[in-house]
Amino acid sequence: MLKKMAMSFNRVTSLFNIQYPIIQAGMVWASGWRLASAVSNAGGLGIIGSGSMYPEILKEHIQKCRAATTKPFAVNIPLLYPNIADHIKIIIEEKVPIVFSSVGNPKTWTVTLKEHGITVVHVVSSSKFAHKAQEAGCDAVVAEGFEAGGHNGREETTTMVLIPAVCNAVSIPVIAAGGIATGRQMLAAMVLGAEAIQAGSLFVASEEASSHIHFKQAVIQAKEGDTQLSLKKLTPVRLIKNKFFEQVQSAENSGATAEELQNLLGRGRSKKGMFEGDLEEGELEIGQVSALLQQIKPAAEIVQELWNDFQNALQHPIK
Ligand SMILES: Cc1cc2nc3c(=O)[nH]c(=O)nc-3n(C[C@H](O)[C@H](O)[C@H](O)COP(=O)(O)O)c2cc1C
Repeated sequence: MLKKMAMSFNRVTSLFNIQYPIIQAGMVWASGWRLASAVSNAGGLGIIGSGSMYPEILKEHIQKCRAATTKPFAVNIPLLYPNIADHIKIIIEEKVPIVFSSVGNPKTWTVTLKEHGITVVHVVSSSKFAHKAQEAGCDAVVAEGFEAGGHNGREETTTMVLIPAVCNAVSIPVIAAGGIATGRQMLAAMVLGAEAIQAGSLFVASEEASSHIHFKQAVIQAKEGDTQLSLKKLTPVRLIKNKFFEQVQSAENSGATAEELQNLLGRGRSKKGMFEGDLEEGELEIGQVSALLQQIKPAAEIVQELWNDFQNALQHPIK
């Protein structure tokens, strides 16, 4: 029964034409073509994170991803970064089937993308923005709770509260993100009304993630309480508490302005931390769920384990 369920499981697996309702999040400095194609080949949906890529690099990743898988894959576009128009042009030219947009107004690009037959999903942190995404014509939304790694909503709504709230607010499918790395967490999200899950931190701890090995090791060593939301005056982001984080904290505590914080952040902090492996001076984006991660594994194994654990949890949901 469960095997059959996997094939045309629900609206999200049908929308993306994937086997499992498991989506690997688009992530700066982590999700290039290697990770995205490995996840798509394993039956989930792999996403190339374009936020850390110049347009020509994005093009190369799309082409390599297409050469490495015949399955659908997506590109994430954080709308706050420069080069968005160039990225959109490449996505259209390269006939990418699915776009996940985030951090920005879904109205700006959804119509253009949909005119080119592209499925559009927008990432939101509140039911108000979920409603706006639906009005903008998006095919689905990712509801991303406060636990999540990376940029985060100002309202600080946790996944447990956000998923039912967003499901009540919209009729398009909802994908749950933030704090999901096990089959039981996935089942909980689906019971709350989500039709798929998007996991980020879980896939940072994969062999195929392009992140530096020092960062991956810091992720699997992280414990409860080792991450915190930072840079709230700029764009709030959940970080591992390292030297750079402490510098930001003390600047914030002494009343630093947004401009001063921007100067402290400088350029290339996230690259320094996550891609170059500078665990002191770099920005290390990861979610609370890192506390549950203990091993770096091949992406295909992560997908299969998550799906198997989900099936087991479904058979024995209550202990
Ligand atoms: C290292 C890292 C980088 C991320 N970069 C992006 C990004 O470029 N665009 C985006 O929309 N979300 C980004 N996120 C958020 C993820 O897409 C995803 O929604 C989030 O990780 C889910 O929560 P989880 O980490 O608890 O699984 C990032 C997350 C991490 C951990």
